[in-house]
Amino acid sequence: MSKNLFIVFEGIDGSGKTMQTEKLYFNIKRQLNQEVHYTKEPTVGPIGVFIKEHFLSGKTEISEEALMYLFTADRIEHLYTGDGSLTKMLEESHVICDRYMLSSLAYNSFAYQSEAVKQMAFGQTHRIPDITFFMDIPIDVAIERIKQRKGPREIFDNVDKLHEVYDRYQNIIHGYPNHNIKVIDANRDPNIVAEDIFVTLCKHIDGIA
Ligand code: TYD
Repeated sequence: MSKNLFIVFEGIDGSGKTMQTEKLYFNIKRQLNQEVHYTKEPTVGPIGVFIKEHFLSGKTEISEEALMYLFTADRIEHLYTGDGSLTKMLEESHVICDRYMLSSLAYNSFAYQSEAVKQMAFGQTHRIPDITFFMDIPIDVAIERIKQRKGPREIFDNVDKLHEVYDRYQNIIHGYPNHNIKVIDANRDPNIVAEDIFVTLCKHIDGIA
């Protein structure tokens, strides 16, 4: 196969994204016998860690506008800086990324509401995913899953925010056809969900072969 694919997962908190990124990672390695990198946003780089430690934790207050710019800065570093950048990874293999541009639109109101910001931060200049899996799950199921989680809560882990973000994702799914968004029913047995995602990816690969 010629082209390394940039594969993105999106969804509300509690939609099972992280588990499914892992399952797809192993399916690509074991079933397709191809190389793949895993990465995420916010990243494990300095800006991503800073965002998580200070602002997602709720420890330090920040304006919506500033938070949006921090996520954008983290993404630009992720895309272009260093040997571990997305661009470098994509030269080597497929890449699975847990959250990307559409998370900023769904979560960061400032980005969602401003056309100028959308143009600047989400225009065609940055790499657009080849395929995006939107993990679709009812909000009440997501809430139950979040409640079962161990570890610290984050500022967006609340019912009102989940509703807001879910509604925005519904608009985004129709508004960004260039992200090749595939809606996956994530309210099923995780192995069935994983199979659905893998089959959808294989169909995409067959389509471009
Ligand atoms: P994290 O715990 O890293 O991952 P997840 O919840 O996906 O398992 O939390 C990331 C949070 O950051 C999540 O609530 C979504 C939010 N976020 C934004 O607000 N804007 C962005 O651009 C990105 C990438 C994430």
